[in-house]
Amino acid sequence: MTATPEEFRAAADLHTPLGQPGSGRVRYAAAMYFHRKGCLSTEALEVYRICSPRDAEDPLQLLNQRGVADDLPRQSLPDRDRALRALLGAIDRYLAGLSGPGVAETRAGLAAFGGGPVRPEPGGTNAVVAAHLDAAVDALCGQDPALAAAIRAAAPHLNWMTYDSYPPDEIGAAFLIGHAYSSLIGEGAIPADDFDLGLFLIAPDLLYRDHAHPAPELYAPLTGPHGWRFAPDAPLVLKPAHEPVWNTPGVPHLTKVGPLPFLCIYCWTRDVNQPARIVPAGDWDMLERMRIEC
Ligand SMILES: [Fe+2]
Repeated sequence: MTATPEEFRAAADLHTPLGQPGSGRVRYAAAMYFHRKGCLSTEALEVYRICSPRDAEDPLQLLNQRGVADDLPRQSLPDRDRALRALLGAIDRYLAGLSGPGVAETRAGLAAFGGGPVRPEPGGTNAVVAAHLDAAVDALCGQDPALAAAIRAAAPHLNWMTYDSYPPDEIGAAFLIGHAYSSLIGEGAIPADDFDLGLFLIAPDLLYRDHAHPAPELYAPLTGPHGWRFAPDAPLVLKPAHEPVWNTPGVPHLTKVGPLPFLCIYCWTRDVNQPARIVPAGDWDMLERMRIEC
């Protein structure tokens, strides 16, 4: 049976990564939610109460000692499923703290996903991810340790891809080999849905040339600053981490990555099967050579 969005978030909370400040209380609140629904025993709830001030302690140990580990809802989830659902829960909590256009649409799509399937099995290693994900997550860790921990926990299970809809000579060789994205939920995982949400990584100093697409797009950058513009040949605007960007359908946009790797939550809220296209501009050579100073 498919979980409701509320159950999905509570299940992710119940598996909040160990060690995060306040994570014991988050797990206890989720346990109370399942207890009220009759899905978790009083004995198991007591374990979560005991562990609530102990952020680094895995309640599973005490649950096992007391013989009530089998009472856990979703305990049978494989590690990958648990890690990805915990990441989606962390992403939803992060987005709840942002404001601006597109945030509500993205959260609505995430809620509609509920307990549906996460993406298929991960692929092989990815050179961009191997080289730059750690540095990006390290930078995030000081600002949002919960989200950083959730990304780290999910990282071994992610399926990183290269976006291959652009003609290579238009997008440029450097970007082609310097980016990766990992879809977490959306088209493919839920064939009936027209929605795609995941993580997007670009190597430091690279230029993602002007492009446009029919899909409305939210970028929630977890690192920064990076340069942006929303018309070909316009001057760049520097935006810090955690300032979301909402690209409406068909409007060109460009990202010049700063000295940190660009890591963001991305979401295409509809029209996900219509490809992006490059929009020509006259200053790409200059932008590819320039460096953003922090
Ligand atoms: Fe885009």
